[in-house]
Amino acid sequence: MKASLIISALPLLFGLPSSYIDEEQAWKHEMIPIELGLNDVVWEAPSSNDARSPCPFLNTAANHDLIPRSGRGIDPDRLDKVLTDIVGLDQSIAKFFVKQVLPIAYLNDQGIQVFDLDSLQK
Ligand code: HEM
Repeated sequence: MKASLIISALPLLFGLPSSYIDEEQAWKHEMIPIELGLNDVVWEAPSSNDARSPCPFLNTAANHDLIPRSGRGIDPDRLDKVLTDIVGLDQSIAKFFVKQVLPIAYLNDQGIQVFDLDSLQK
């Protein structure tokens, strides 16, 4: 599981092959929808109280407030939306990733299933 997760994630993390880098092409194929205004996201280092995970993607999503900066109480549906609408993953691949958090999810005060990034620590 670890190997397949890492292999499938490498192009996203380290950049797509140069043949895919043509920006116009990227927009045309809606890999990153323009209307989401990714330029507006603000990176902030986590505070010592924030939860982080062994996953560099989830940590950077939290550092950019795409999922809660605290790294706690994350709604898997929100993560699904980040993976599809912002990262540009296919719905079925996003679902494969999101399924990994269900075993560590718990019910929050509103009865919504959520999870914390530090629960992904081994
Ligand atoms: C729901 C979404 C995701 C979950 C729950 C998740 C979870 C994890 C977990 C638990 C690990 C640690 C695996 C281990 O050490 O055994 C990990 C590692 C990793 N993840 Fe994610 N991940 C997600 C999405 C992504 C995405 C979208 C990317 C790439 C864009 C990514 C890139 C990586 C990389 C490169 C590692 C290896 C880090 C290292 O070994 O230092 N992940 N992820």
